[in-house]
Amino acid sequence: MTDKRKVRKAVFPVAGLGTRFLPATKAVPKEMLTVVDKPVIQYVVDEALEAGIEHLIFVTGRGKAVIEDYFDIQVELDQTLRERNKKAELTLLDGILPPAGTTSFTRQQSPLGLGHAVWCARELVGNEPFALLLPDMIMQGEKGCLKGMVELYEQSGGGNVIAVEECAPDQAHKYGIVGVGDRIGEGYKITGMVEKPAPGTAPSNFYINGRYILQPEIFPILATQERGAGNEIQLTDGMIKLANEQDFAAYHFQGTTYDCGAKDGFILANVAFALQRSDIRSVVEGPLKELVAGLK
Ligand code: G1P
Repeated sequence: MTDKRKVRKAVFPVAGLGTRFLPATKAVPKEMLTVVDKPVIQYVVDEALEAGIEHLIFVTGRGKAVIEDYFDIQVELDQTLRERNKKAELTLLDGILPPAGTTSFTRQQSPLGLGHAVWCARELVGNEPFALLLPDMIMQGEKGCLKGMVELYEQSGGGNVIAVEECAPDQAHKYGIVGVGDRIGEGYKITGMVEKPAPGTAPSNFYINGRYILQPEIFPILATQERGAGNEIQLTDGMIKLANEQDFAAYHFQGTTYDCGAKDGFILANVAFALQRSDIRSVVEGPLKELVAGLK
């Protein structure tokens, strides 16, 4: 029987170098780039918390210490805000501070791939199911993507869940792609997976959007795994092996995902999230329309 235990922990692999975003990411981790007025990582953490996650595990790397600082108290800043009676700012900072003891950090020492980054979290996750959220991808939808996945996980009695969205067929080679079968709740039974299929060979146009609920049995598989696409230890290859023993379901996310690791996704995310904020929409909507109308 598959494990039905609650998903309490979430893993955030934040060791990536962000080479697609140089020079911005030379000294600032890509996860700390701001979308409107929050770092990208805050959106992903908020999605995890909305889904009921209690413990945040960050797999970091060299040059990423500022992420750990971001999730701590900034004593001098707090003191200054208090002296200046800046209540709104203090409330804002207080609202995003994780309770003491609910964050953990470990380092991926070498960039050996997503499968390796996940494996680096094995001791911190232990023997229980966990969520995995790729921090480049931020989402807008009526219901948070991970929240919907947890619901499907509970309905389907445990197992593993991967969130998917549809992509244009000519984009499938950039992603992990799943083949799907019977419907279950807001998703499907997964019948196959492939990482970055050669053009024209994808089993469907359902791409893995960067959200997973996985059972701990993935760790011993990742420990022994050979390198796959891009000469990296691929999570998808590990999941293909785990699928021989356990169920995998695809949660069909109904919303929009922005890949903030790429310039176009990052810019669109800024516009989309700005337009969702009434205070900012009121001042940018007019100028944005003028900009677009003036395009030749
Ligand atoms: C990773 C996964 C891939 C997934 C993608 C989503 O690839 O390996 O299956 O579709 O994230 O962003 P990467 O973007 O690290 O190449």
